Amino acid sequence: MQADLIIHNIKTLITPYPSDLPVCNDAFNSIKTLENAFVAIKDGTILEVGTGNYQAFVDATTELYDAKGALAGPGLIDSHTHVVHGGSREHEFEKKMAGVPYLQILKEGGGIHSTVNATRKISEDALYAQAKKSLIKMMEYGVTTVEGKSGYGLEKDTELKQLRVQKKLDQNLPIDIVATFMGAHAVPEAFKDNKTAYLDEVISWMDDVKKESLAEFVDIFCEDHVFDAKESEYLLTAAIKKGFKAKIHSDEIKALGGTELAAKLNAVSADHLMAITESGMDALKDSHTIANILPSTSFYLNSTYAPVRKMIDKGLAIALSSDYNPGSSPSENFMLTLNIAAIHLKMSPNEILNAATINPSFALNRQGKIGVLEKEYQADIVLYDAHNWPYVLYHYGINHVKDVFKSGHLIVKDQKYLKE
Ligand code: NIG
Ligand code: FE
Repeated sequence: MQADLIIHNIKTLITPYPSDLPVCNDAFNSIKTLENAFVAIKDGTILEVGTGNYQAFVDATTELYDAKGALAGPGLIDSHTHVVHGGSREHEFEKKMAGVPYLQILKEGGGIHSTVNATRKISEDALYAQAKKSLIKMMEYGVTTVEGKSGYGLEKDTELKQLRVQKKLDQNLPIDIVATFMGAHAVPEAFKDNKTAYLDEVISWMDDVKKESLAEFVDIFCEDHVFDAKESEYLLTAAIKKGFKAKIHSDEIKALGGTELAAKLNAVSADHLMAITESGMDALKDSHTIANILPSTSFYLNSTYAPVRKMIDKGLAIALSSDYNPGSSPSENFMLTLNIAAIHLKMSPNEILNAATINPSFALNRQGKIGVLEKEYQADIVLYDAHNWPYVLYHYGINHVKDVFKSGHLIVKDQKYLKE
């Protein structure tokens, strides 16, 4: 079969091996490497990944794209962000730097609540414009699929506003945005003595979310002074009954049993895990739940890092995400997240590639479709201006991306997003 597009003159191509299960144990430190490679693409899908001569895929209409000796890899998958939100939180930055803890700021009505106020006030158009700017940066850093959560409304209209804006962005921009409904991101002041009543409200909004196909996943913040494991189980069980898949923010600051709950409910991911316990690790080991690690948040909160080496040794399936949000990780730079994973989590370059491509495809229920450069996968490809993958992780804090293809279309050229 002839290709629409062939990306050729790739000096080195790196990709996870395809897998029906999340990658862990020895396979986690293993990737496939091809020298002098090409990728042939037809209708947005990979027709062939090979080395040497590609003439068999060329006809008169085939477009040839010269990668000029670049390093190529799969489009990056950032499987945990809060990208659609109003305002920013630099007014709390000094307080934070003076040592006031994250949960203290939240308890005093700031933190998430401050962004809730801003998100309630902002118009849909302004919310769209703010998130669009962030999504463009993400694509310029090589991200071709991103997850985004609501959770800055804590009231029905604003939660739905966030998700509707996100859906419109997904339709209008080339990046794929996978949606999560997170009405249980914090406890509104009016419900602080009756969390169950608030959870019942959130559960009732799920029907509206479903009706408009605004989200595939439901998430909850299982944390001290937010929702405990019992409350999380109550909400997530209701969500599963309504046809959503579960995600959970667990063991970020205090371990409350949220990770064990994730395994029990067969959640697609348990996220953060900085304070994970032996029992949490054992539960994840026996499950298909991805351990989604957000090291930019540890960096930005100046807090502990998840014990990832131990988790890898135990055979857990690890993904990495930016957690982009205005409070604990205000940066769209997913490449920096990968640098931090190398430096602070002591992950190897191969492990980091698997954790930023194939494993997050499972955390987003997109396994077999994205995250791997192999026949029949979506043609989401990043070309790096770097001679090898370890260089990208070692030379930190800058953008190594040169060009990005989404479903076979060039969307970023020389680090600049090509306007739609
Ligand atoms: O993943 N932990 C809860 N939610 C976000 C932070 C949200 C915020 O501070 O605005 C997180 O870190
Ligand atoms: Fe988060």
